Amino acid sequence: MSAEDFLFELPPADLKIAERKFKERNPIWTGCKARLIERYLFYFVQITYHGTYIDAFAGPQECDKHEMWSAKLVMESSPRWLKNFFLFELKDSQVKLLRQMCNSQPPPDKTKKEPNRKIKIYPGDFNQNILMMLRENPIRDKEATFCLLDQRTFECDWASVKAIADHKRGGNKIELFYFFPEGWINRSMKAKKIDKDEALKKWWGDSSWPELMKRQGAVRAQYVCDRFKSELKYKHVYPFPIYEKPDKGGRIMYYMIHTSDHDEAPLLMNRAYGKALDIKETPEQLDLLKVSLAKN
Ligand SMILES: C[S@@+](CC[C@H](N)C(=O)[O-])C[C@H]1O[C@@H](n2cnc3c(N)ncnc32)[C@H](O)[C@@H]1O
Repeated sequence: MSAEDFLFELPPADLKIAERKFKERNPIWTGCKARLIERYLFYFVQITYHGTYIDAFAGPQECDKHEMWSAKLVMESSPRWLKNFFLFELKDSQVKLLRQMCNSQPPPDKTKKEPNRKIKIYPGDFNQNILMMLRENPIRDKEATFCLLDQRTFECDWASVKAIADHKRGGNKIELFYFFPEGWINRSMKAKKIDKDEALKKWWGDSSWPELMKRQGAVRAQYVCDRFKSELKYKHVYPFPIYEKPDKGGRIMYYMIHTSDHDEAPLLMNRAYGKALDIKETPEQLDLLKVSLAKN
């Protein structure tokens, strides 16, 4: 690794430049999104030494490709310092896979300071269960918490996003990693015939969703990010593009919008994006990273 590899930088503010740069550098394509999430949380625990992971749509996208399954990769990521896991899933067959995966985890290794974990699975509709989960498990203001909202298209109600963003009474809000289906949103909106306005109002939170249709690409991604900033008051919001597999054309399929109040979070996500497919840093390299971060 060169010295530059230890530096942290923000992703480019100009999204057109960013998309070119991401694509040239080390594009994350759909099949390796889970590795991006896992790598980010690997950096996250280096800073926090603890944490809570919420996964709203936690079943595997592809039942036979568990190496692409975010919840599994995060749970098995080492060091195993994330303590609480709240996993939501609608489909019974997916809940079964989740249970099997959770039950197959080894006990904590106390020599590595691994905590006893609390793992809770909520079968059923995330939008109906999220408030109950937050009531049953209030998250302390100081608890570093990351929430993956990996919907397929329109499954995640805006009211649920808001409930998570508004949950803590102080400190940094719960971080979000929100899936925005840029590659097929126009098609999916057109295809929706039954209760279209009602369904899209739930997803977008109000009846201004036609505004989205007037935009596209990076401009639309920025529009969505601005909403997370203005309405939910996140300090840092950035859309990371996820591409189609290079041999299939490599266009942007969707954005993962990262929202956080922590000043180091966008630096860490940008690093994770660049490094997700590399081997992980050694403990010595991680120490250098932390020094570099402290100087930033
Ligand atoms: C796109 S996949 C999630 C992929 C997963 N994050 C991964 O890394 O492989 C969406 C999952 O959400 C589930 N799902 C769909 N609607 C849901 C809802 N309303 N509440 C909870 N889970 C839901 C689906 O059954 C599916 O397992």
